[in-house]
Amino acid sequence: MTDWVIETHDLTRTFRDVTAVNQLNLQVKPGEIFGLVGPDGAGKTTTIRLLAAIMDPTDGWAKVAGFDTVQKPEPIKHRIGYMAQRFNLYGDLSVWENLNFFADVFAMTGPERQERIERLLQFARLTEFRDRRAAHLSGGMQKKLALACTLIHTPEIIFLDEPTTGVDPVSRREFWDILTDLHLQGITLVVSTPYMDEAERCSRVGLMYQGQLVVCDTPEAIKAMTEGELIALWPSDLRRAHDVLLDVDGVREVQTYGDQLRVFALDGDGMLARLREVLAAHNITVKDARRTSPRMEEAFISLIRQRMAEQED
Ligand SMILES: Nc1ncnc2c1ncn2[C@@H]1O[C@H](COP(=O)(O)OP(=O)(O)O)[C@@H](O)[C@H]1O
Ligand SMILES: [Mg+2]
Repeated sequence: MTDWVIETHDLTRTFRDVTAVNQLNLQVKPGEIFGLVGPDGAGKTTTIRLLAAIMDPTDGWAKVAGFDTVQKPEPIKHRIGYMAQRFNLYGDLSVWENLNFFADVFAMTGPERQERIERLLQFARLTEFRDRRAAHLSGGMQKKLALACTLIHTPEIIFLDEPTTGVDPVSRREFWDILTDLHLQGITLVVSTPYMDEAERCSRVGLMYQGQLVVCDTPEAIKAMTEGELIALWPSDLRRAHDVLLDVDGVREVQTYGDQLRVFALDGDGMLARLREVLAAHNITVKDARRTSPRMEEAFISLIRQRMAEQED
């Protein structure tokens, strides 16, 4: 059974003494939006470059669309689009000229070439900016133009390396709406991002840390993976409640979010009631308290901590 569109086996890339990607075993299904999430230096860019057949692994292998990235890079390059973290647009060229430039690169000819360009302009919501120089576009519009250029040859798989880093939240959302459109067209997307809210928009997410895949699953499954339970509380005195709760047996961590405390506790019946009691004993009233599930960000931090603790053992 090989219904993976991307598959790696112990994929490894070292740079002298740095192991940027460490024995990665990854599978991506056709039509997925796969998110590669992790902090700076985790190995996201190196992974994407290995998958885009731009760089060779030092060990292990990767297959993309059924082709080995070292033995058969050419058929891979026809089937994929790759938007690098610093995608090179031509600042002096207009939006329309940039698209034509990339159409030339892929030797596109005939009437379908201009049709494709018009369609992409519309798709990227750039039609009314077609004559503007790329250098004079906003950051968000530059990213959309880069994406349109990446799509010029109708790739089946696209790799996007931190496409929204440094882009304002409204443009980020719009960019993701465009990615969702591509997903609905059946294109496979691999997107790296440092933003946890974007991880939520993926079909599956791989969390990278120090070149390794810490976890790889659906956002829902990842959020369900954290140990213990999470309780959200709205106390009258946030600061005092924070310190009081930290001393309760079985409480591992207390975080403040606005006027809410998020308490990570070991599993145990009655923890919620116990916390209420302790606060009441300190004359702190609680407006509301309930068990809740962790956010993506909380799940990731917890999983990375677990991984670090395992490594110390
Ligand atoms: N060409 C290179 N030469 C030497 N070290 C590199 C090179 N590319 C990446 N690295 C190192 O590999 C690690 C992973 O980098 P990278 O893949 O860029 O991570 P990310 O994209 O998640 O920030 C980092 O420690 C980085 O310094
Ligand atoms: Mg990177």
